[in-house]
Amino acid sequence: MNVILIGNGGRENALARAIAQSTMLHTLYILPGNPGTAAYGVNVPIPAKNTDDIEKFALDHEVSLIVVGPEAPLVDGFADHFKKHPHILVVGPSAYGAQLEGSKAFAKKFMQRHHIPTARYFECDATNLNQGIDFLRLLQSPYVLKADGLAAGKGVLIINDISEAEHELTAMLNGKFGDASATVVIEEFLSGIEFSVFALTDGKDYVLLPEAKDYKRIGEGDAGLNTGGMGAVSPVPFCNEALMQKVIDRIVAPTINGLHAEEIDYKGFVFFGLINVNGDPFVIEYNCRMGDPETEVVFPRIDADVLSMFEAIRHQQLGAFEMKFVPGTAVAVMMVSGGYPGDYETGKEITLGIVHEDSIVFHAGTTLTDGKLVTSGGRVLAVTSFGKDIAEAASRSYQTVENIYFEGAYYRKDIGKDLM
Ligand code: AMP
Ligand code: GLY
Repeated sequence: MNVILIGNGGRENALARAIAQSTMLHTLYILPGNPGTAAYGVNVPIPAKNTDDIEKFALDHEVSLIVVGPEAPLVDGFADHFKKHPHILVVGPSAYGAQLEGSKAFAKKFMQRHHIPTARYFECDATNLNQGIDFLRLLQSPYVLKADGLAAGKGVLIINDISEAEHELTAMLNGKFGDASATVVIEEFLSGIEFSVFALTDGKDYVLLPEAKDYKRIGEGDAGLNTGGMGAVSPVPFCNEALMQKVIDRIVAPTINGLHAEEIDYKGFVFFGLINVNGDPFVIEYNCRMGDPETEVVFPRIDADVLSMFEAIRHQQLGAFEMKFVPGTAVAVMMVSGGYPGDYETGKEITLGIVHEDSIVFHAGTTLTDGKLVTSGGRVLAVTSFGKDIAEAASRSYQTVENIYFEGAYYRKDIGKDLM
């Protein structure tokens, strides 16, 4: 079969690698892809937002499956657009289903309806600001304020001081994050360790993918600004059977059953951003896509034909799909441009040295200029390695990272350390 993969990051490089291993694949097209995805298929320079061009390309090239990497096209109705072509399966939910990520208020109401554990909250807009402030004053510091809509990963504020929180709430409602913060979700702060669980669903049945832990802050010891993610580990040692059973019983199953009961058109990934509060899992957020860099450890750990996994959605056989995991541990270390997540320069030439035999180098923000590989984004490369445990996998990733050079390159040296 011919397959389109939408996106151009490290996540898509890892998805492309997995899809390319399928015995069912004829040709993989990555739109627009990056120099890393080119090793696994044909990059086609059509941006994700050009839905009509993608539709034409899909029809011209007899594509029967489209896997959507990022959330924005899904929230904008990418999957709905293809409903008129029933022979093309889109892995990614309808715009309505994508609101699990696209609207924090939608997600909170969904969780409330289905009794899924999550932080207490209040949905605040210009009409009920006074009640919002009353709710804030009932909570204990720190205060969590979330822009309802997509805000490029920047829409969550965690504030210690109550008067500052009240001030920021007003600023958000007045357009601090544009339309995205016209509604704000005020939440109680949950204290615990975060982890990520992923399911692939057809809206009725699901398969669970390997879980992962992401390292979001720029600095070692989880200090400094939030980033898209500086590294990832899978499996996660504290995700033992007892915790995972609670995750399934209290969160994953009620979520999928809720989608089904509400007849929400959802064929795709559900990314459960969870927090372990003294052994009890709570939902911090849903995403309607895979995580990045989580995909760079999750997909290399899947020991199954991923196209047959996607095809099981089409044939409503996901419930019977036999998932197998590669033994061992995967650790991904992200190399970023100096200055990220603030201002940074691009166009720096990248020299890839010796890659450890247990490492895979995924491209995130790279491009070819005059035949040279150069940086083109904040997150540049994700180096994933396998090992018998976190220590071995991490040390292999760092061996490979140390052989890669570009001016200003930065990476965290403590990925996985807290779990060893
Ligand atoms: P989100 O975009 O909802 O994932 O929020 C971004 C980050 O803010 C999360 O990864 C958490 O680290 C933190 N966060 C969000 N909500 C809460 C909460 N209710 N309690 C504690 N931390 C939170
Ligand atoms: N690494 C977090 C995310 O993809 O949202």
